[in-house]
Amino acid sequence: METPCMPALEMSPAVHATVVSDRREPAPGIVIVGVRAPQLAASIRAGQFVMAVPPSGERVSTALGVYEVEGDRVSLMLVVVGPRTRELALLSDGDSLALLGPLGNGFDCDSLGDDVALVAGGVGVAPMLLPARDLVARGARVTLYYGARTARALVDIALFEAVGATVVTATDDGTLGHHGYVTDVLARDGARHSAIAACGPSPMLRSVARVARQLDLRAQLSLEETFACGVGACWGCVVPLDRSSAQAPKFPDAAAGESRDYVHARICKEGPVFWAHELRW
Ligand SMILES: Cc1cc2nc3c(=O)[nH]c(=O)nc-3n(C[C@H](O)[C@H](O)[C@H](O)COP(=O)(O)OP(=O)(O)OC[C@H]3O[C@@H](n4cnc5c(N)ncnc54)[C@H](O)[C@@H]3O)c2cc1C
Ligand code: FES
Repeated sequence: METPCMPALEMSPAVHATVVSDRREPAPGIVIVGVRAPQLAASIRAGQFVMAVPPSGERVSTALGVYEVEGDRVSLMLVVVGPRTRELALLSDGDSLALLGPLGNGFDCDSLGDDVALVAGGVGVAPMLLPARDLVARGARVTLYYGARTARALVDIALFEAVGATVVTATDDGTLGHHGYVTDVLARDGARHSAIAACGPSPMLRSVARVARQLDLRAQLSLEETFACGVGACWGCVVPLDRSSAQAPKFPDAAAGESRDYVHARICKEGPVFWAHELRW
């Protein structure tokens, strides 16, 4: 099933009562959970996310990218870092899981050209499979620059290759691929690309933005943040953004005054994907 990557089209989010269909653990601490969610599968776009409600209901929901979409199955990739991801990672076949989504604005693949560098750090690989597949389907050449601490944490490389992407790896400890940061490889080899799309920890994204400037390439960055509401209500996840950006919130920014040329955009609502050159970091 094709999942068009277009950020401007906002689909109405809904609560999807899903049932776990499969679970695998490609590496210690990394779990992929498949669920049956036909309406979500039909409406999710590359780079959008869902808020998952841990089954006990005792904790607030947590933001997760959507990894695979096949028929009425979608999957979520979990890296266990704390109580909510730990609880979700324990889900097994037949368990119920409530997902609110699709949420946010994803990757604008149509603006990335025909030789795209996808850059993923750690769990930042989760929202990269859908754009890889959709970009290849429309004839683009796709290279995934994929970095992690160590070789075992680089998961599903074969899956990316199967959709037609070339995978270039980097590890902090040198156990696979380039010994060092994946952004080093991007800086060295990235000049031929038409644009960049990236997801990963904030320091990596800032580095991608720097490399993009050096290479004179445009870059879309999927920002990370700890969300409270995840739906644009609490303004707890803002980032300064050029007022002229198409993604700038359209209502008056009372605290901003008229003279500021930037506004505060919500990562969960106007993002999580923004053009690097429009961010005021
Ligand atoms: C748009 C978006 C998409 C995401 N997609 C995924 C995904 O596909 N898979 C996935 O596993 N995680 C994803 N995350 C991160 C995930 O939401 C958090 O890791 C999770 O909420 C942590 O909850 P917790 O209770 O397990 O840990 P917490 O107790 O909340 O945190 C434990 C530790 O992790 C750190 N932490 C918390 N949140 C984040 C974060 N967002 N980024 C980095 N460190 C964090 C905390 O500082 C703390 O050190 C995404 C986040 C966003 C904003
Ligand atoms: S987390 Fe509440 S507005 Fe983004």
